[in-house]
Amino acid sequence: MDMLHIRGGKALCGEVAVSGAKNAALPIMAAALAVDGPCRLRGVPELVDVRTLSTLLGELGTTVTREEDGGLLLATADNSSCVATYEQVRRMRASICVLGPLLARRGRACVSLPGGCNIGHRPIDLHLKGLAALGAEIRVERGYVIAEAVRLYGANIYLGGAFGSTVTGTCNVMSAAVLAEGTTTIEAAACEPEVADLGRFLNAAGARISGLGTPFVRIEGVEQLTGTEHTVIPDRIEAATLMMAAAITRGEATLRNVCVRHMTAVLEKLREMGVTIRVNGSTVHVRCDGPLRPVDCIALPYPGIPTDVQAQLTALLGTTAGISIVTDKVFPDRFMHVSELLRVGARIRREGNNAIVSGSDSLSGASVMASDLRASAALVLAALAAEGDSVVRRIYHLDRGYERLEDKLTRLGADVSRVKDDPAHVPASLRPDEERRQVPLRPPHFARPAAPREIGSSGVAVPPPSAGKSSSAGNSPSAR
Ligand code: EPU
Repeated sequence: MDMLHIRGGKALCGEVAVSGAKNAALPIMAAALAVDGPCRLRGVPELVDVRTLSTLLGELGTTVTREEDGGLLLATADNSSCVATYEQVRRMRASICVLGPLLARRGRACVSLPGGCNIGHRPIDLHLKGLAALGAEIRVERGYVIAEAVRLYGANIYLGGAFGSTVTGTCNVMSAAVLAEGTTTIEAAACEPEVADLGRFLNAAGARISGLGTPFVRIEGVEQLTGTEHTVIPDRIEAATLMMAAAITRGEATLRNVCVRHMTAVLEKLREMGVTIRVNGSTVHVRCDGPLRPVDCIALPYPGIPTDVQAQLTALLGTTAGISIVTDKVFPDRFMHVSELLRVGARIRREGNNAIVSGSDSLSGASVMASDLRASAALVLAALAAEGDSVVRRIYHLDRGYERLEDKLTRLGADVSRVKDDPAHVPASLRPDEERRQVPLRPPHFARPAAPREIGSSGVAVPPPSAGKSSSAGNSPSAR
């Protein structure tokens, strides 16, 4: 397992390009199951989640190949398998996106229920309601959703739930309805740009969808979808994370491949805090050279502030003097990052679906543990701002959704390195216990005056020959 070692306290400065959007790429890749003919996708980021879905699609008869130019080629040779096993689905909830396309193209889908999640309760009742409205027979047996339909038929479907609409639920229903007989209308469809991007991909493959990006989507069913090409939209969550990395270090960054149209709420909030943002087409320059102002933020469905940047905003507000309140109305329990942010000295109190942040002007490096994807990003941001060394552990969460984030941060001037999660790689400043172990513990009546310590050629204190035979360079307090 890897961890990130970050030496914080450096203002970022530099230029990087934002990758394609994970949450657009995944449902589009899944929708390729409903297409007859090869699909070529550009802008699909190199992520663990993309590899996980590629494996699952492979088991379902669709081979996924990364081409030399970075494009992804998806080709279905065998339409017989309908089973998405728990083994794959448990690795990534977005695997549920195969449900709609499989049902529509193969007449049957048997997809494992995704199970628990660190960001809160995540039912799929709305996905099932929508597919049932299209005429599918649905049952849940032994942890699997089994959906069957000889033919799907267009219907009027309302997809609103207690926490707004559902992003992957809209993707599932849309990807099934494109091959249904007749017209489907989805009301309270998710308006997220990633859903609209899936719609554009399906339209390029021959579907007839209108109203994309609005809560009212209309789909006229077609007999068949055919192979096509598509470029995935830029990742608005990665762009926001990098903007906040510049802001939290009171530095600057130029980001290329940004779709600012998808980020209005985030840009407004950052500007309200006092971050300077200049937009020139798809290039955005972010600068932060003064103290920031506290603000209140509410994570809402699009076009509101995304829940996927709530944790990062909380980290940023943790460095902003004054009281800020952060509320998550999409995933009210998505606050696992709070207790880890406390470890770097942030002052945050959680109350229900609110985090009350009392900004501190100095965070100090610590060893912290990532609990989910966006929590990891928040911890990385906090570590960039903190004085001294930090290590962020369990970064497999980060790798699921960010394409080598440490490389991008390094290009922006951050001091970040990926190392094996091994005690030898924990910086000395984060090993107070280790330091204490170096001091021989003796009962007072055995105490002898300590022999004078010499300074070795490396500038490190060398113990006298008789002391600590078992100590090695690897665990000396000064070893990195
Ligand atoms: N909900 C229901 N019933 C359902 C589906 C959802 O009550 O059938 C509730 C959820 O519990 C939640 C709210 O509705 O409170 C929104 O959930 P949604 O279904 O929209 O989430 P999702 O489709 O499972 C996608 C993203 C998430 C992102 C959310 C919200 C993908 C692959 N995942 O999840 O991304 O947080 O939409 O925008 O697109 C991430 O990238 O880190 C991530 C978690």
